Amino acid sequence: MISDLHLLRLDRFADLTEETLLDRYGGLLSPEERQRQARPSLAKRRREVLLTRALVRSVLSSYTGADPRDWRFGVGERGRPFVEGLSFDFNLAHTEGLIACLVSDAPSPGVDIEFMSRRGRLDDVARHFFAKPECDDLLRTAEEGKRRRFFDYWTLKEAYIKARGLGLALPLDAFWFTLTGDRPAISFDHRIEDDPAAWSFETLELSADHLCSVALKTAEPPVLQLSETLLLQA
Ligand SMILES: CC(C)(COP(=O)(O)OP(=O)(O)OC[C@H]1O[C@@H](n2cnc3c(N)ncnc32)[C@H](O)[C@@H]1OP(=O)(O)O)[C@@H](O)C(=O)NCCC(=O)NCCS
Repeated sequence: MISDLHLLRLDRFADLTEETLLDRYGGLLSPEERQRQARPSLAKRRREVLLTRALVRSVLSSYTGADPRDWRFGVGERGRPFVEGLSFDFNLAHTEGLIACLVSDAPSPGVDIEFMSRRGRLDDVARHFFAKPECDDLLRTAEEGKRRRFFDYWTLKEAYIKARGLGLALPLDAFWFTLTGDRPAISFDHRIEDDPAAWSFETLELSADHLCSVALKTAEPPVLQLSETLLLQA
């Protein structure tokens, strides 16, 4: 079974100007992607879009040998990108300093990464988005473990909704995770018709600041292969 997590750490590119990055990787993008890439007013966001497109094109080509410029992406009703006709599927996530591309032959894989040092009132966010068993567990968690536990739940919930391809159309308080077993386990209330036994989840600490969760529709727990990706150049 393929379950590969390809990572791109953005500090590798910190010394390169936007011009240099565009020279190296801009040619991989389609004209529509170049337009989208140039749009954000924040330079940091423009770099992220460029490197994300270069990453997904390089990664897909590493499986098929196709020219990275030739990939044509479709977008699902709720924003999930796809490529038709592949024997595997992918999903992308980006956060401060890191981009991830998950590739799997399980259908519609989901990945999320979060920067755990981000600011914000975590308990307010949990009350607003998490299900009751998750909020209750956070209340019971000792102060020093709360941030990590919050991001366990956050990344797992995002990975699941991304695997379903439905984004925030899926009520976030209608499903919850239990973290007491070997692996995270999901439960649903009556609003979500799904089978908990059909799913495997995994959470990985990619750095002191970065937490990543993966959702795969397979009853067989996958062995995730991690790799740092080399980008192809146009
Ligand atoms: C859009 C959403 C799918 C992910 O948003 P996000 O966490 O801001 O962004 P991520 O970096 O994890 O993922 C973005 C990537 O997911 C992919 N994506 C977009 N819509 C998607 C969907 N419906 N399903 C799966 N993947 C999707 C895209 O590849 C996108 O990257 P790209 O635009 O560069 O191609 C959606 O879940 C969302 O809006 N979440 C908001 C966060 C939130 O409030 N979470 C509640 C706490 S659990």
